[in-house]
Amino acid sequence: MYRILVMNGPNLNMLGVREPGVYGSEKLVDIENHLKELAAPNGLELSFFQSNHEGELIDRIHAAYGNKDGIVLNPGALTHYSYALRDALTSVSIPVVEVHLSNIHAREAFRHHSVIAPIAVGQISGFGSYGYEMGLLALKRHLERAK
Ligand code: DQA
Repeated sequence: MYRILVMNGPNLNMLGVREPGVYGSEKLVDIENHLKELAAPNGLELSFFQSNHEGELIDRIHAAYGNKDGIVLNPGALTHYSYALRDALTSVSIPVVEVHLSNIHAREAFRHHSVIAPIAVGQISGFGSYGYEMGLLALKRHLERAK
């Protein structure tokens, strides 16, 4: 049983309302409920956390040390500049899969760069909410292989 934390950063609480043409019409709770359905059949124990505050995300990552086996993370705009979030992830050495609903490489230039990607197992971008499902299963496969 792998213990996975699904984390979402700033403004992702606004899914469903926020630019539906870019991010889709599903709310974050819908995405989380769908992931919950995948948990038992895949031997995963899931917990969820969303915050609009960088420090709260960092505190949650620190709290995951010794308690979580992996993190699925959509860091929102922090993706593009938060060295502090990146350092928190390397501090705890928990494998992370980076997920974006939109294809960040097809959008504004400032979204093309991720400071998280180089320390992530991998990045999934552009598949909408399905990216979280892909991220979860990719992380599971990674953990199994790393055993
Ligand atoms: C996002 C992409 C980011 O550039 C943006 O700031 C977000 C959402 C995505 O899921 O596509 O907040 O991470």
